[in-house]
Amino acid sequence: MNEPGRRHGGTLATEHTAPGSGRATAGQAAAALARARSRTLALTDCLPDAELTSQHSPLMSPLVWDLAHIGNQEDIWLLRQAGGRPAVRPDLDTLYDAFRHPRPDRPSLPLLDPAQARNYLAEVRGRVLDVLSAAPLDGNPLLADAFVFGMTAQHEQQHDETMLATHQLRRGQAVLDDPAPLPAPADRAELPREVLVPGGPFTMGTGTEPWALDNERPAHTVGVAAFLLDTVPVTVSAYTAFIDDGGYRDPRWWHPAGWEHRQRHDIEAPLFWRREGAGWVRRRFGRTEHLPPGEPVMHVCWYEADAYARWAGRRLPTEAEWEKAARHEPATGRSRRHPWGDTAPGPEHANLGQRHLRPAPAGSFPAGAAPCGARQLLGDVWEWTASDFRPYPGFSAFPYREYSEVFFGPDHKVLRGGSFATDPVACRGTFRNWDYPVRRQIFAGFRTCRTAEGEGR
Ligand code: AVJ
Ligand code: FE
Repeated sequence: MNEPGRRHGGTLATEHTAPGSGRATAGQAAAALARARSRTLALTDCLPDAELTSQHSPLMSPLVWDLAHIGNQEDIWLLRQAGGRPAVRPDLDTLYDAFRHPRPDRPSLPLLDPAQARNYLAEVRGRVLDVLSAAPLDGNPLLADAFVFGMTAQHEQQHDETMLATHQLRRGQAVLDDPAPLPAPADRAELPREVLVPGGPFTMGTGTEPWALDNERPAHTVGVAAFLLDTVPVTVSAYTAFIDDGGYRDPRWWHPAGWEHRQRHDIEAPLFWRREGAGWVRRRFGRTEHLPPGEPVMHVCWYEADAYARWAGRRLPTEAEWEKAARHEPATGRSRRHPWGDTAPGPEHANLGQRHLRPAPAGSFPAGAAPCGARQLLGDVWEWTASDFRPYPGFSAFPYREYSEVFFGPDHKVLRGGSFATDPVACRGTFRNWDYPVRRQIFAGFRTCRTAEGEGR
């Protein structure tokens, strides 16, 4: 099983496995689970056992913990809850409960070793496919539209993104395939700096997206005043101008808590950047390279994004503003599933699914533009928003409080849009991610906006 040197690359299945609006089928669930598994194995088969069991950063679990935790969630939700079948390993529930064991403690737990973890995953998955072909996918809200299968495929893909972040933090030689960078878009120079999102109400959240998670529900009307949004995410070159202007040394731009954090940790550039001569280089999945000026900046925390926006005389969009820009269709007043419409994400729309191990140049994917003209709202980099992670009016936890509800409150900021590392099954116009405002290891960037003063109103 363990074959160091086995590569993670573009060989994964690419068929659309996210359901369309309306119903989702057992076939889509099986395909989504299969695609998640091939990515999980690709991300772990490429490393020797010692690198799977060691901790590459105190922020992350050993990869072998993620591996067995993925299997344990499936053991709980698909075998027991959906299938009403006996557990494969009920004794593992506590060991792989993220709430019982904080990350720094995970390496010292009596974890399954890599071979045992792989066997556990395979054993559970075999029985799950049985459940999937036998279960009636209606009636019970857990089973209707194969929801719990879609939820579990998203869970595995979320851990696959986390595991890719662990790869980025790991020292040592590169083990992942790195496809050639994407070309810059032909019309980059003609793109306006900002686009107008008209004022008025729009429908935020969803009641119809079959695999939307509890925090995306229910659909509700939100009034959003007209605003002007960056057409593309903030680039490396724009962000470097902030650094060169002394932005990291000027408390005027920083949230007080962000300034304190910056001082204490002596932060002076995005994570993984290093000065070399007059410029900067970055380390990306084990390779050191010059910074690509036209690429969206990433590995910045919320405080850095917030400071940049203030320096630029602008601000971060609220979560409602972001979603209106991404989904609102002025011609009909309805909200789309994705910026480009309701069709599933294809390679022409967005950089998703670990096809590339980096964001595409700013301005890419004209076919993925939103009605307002903004590009790259999905894929490339997660985008920090101004908003705290809060429940929508009428929220109800489903199927478990620990997915979303326990994280609501002022401690977490919302990120939107997914990154190059996010699978399409875990990314849509309504999808909400969250993290602490100091976190930088995630594939996060941002764009800025300003309230419209008379323009186009
Ligand atoms: C939604 C990405 C914040 O990784 O902490 C994984 C997803 N929840 N296992 C996380 C999740 C339970 C979650 N995020
Ligand atoms: Fe998890």
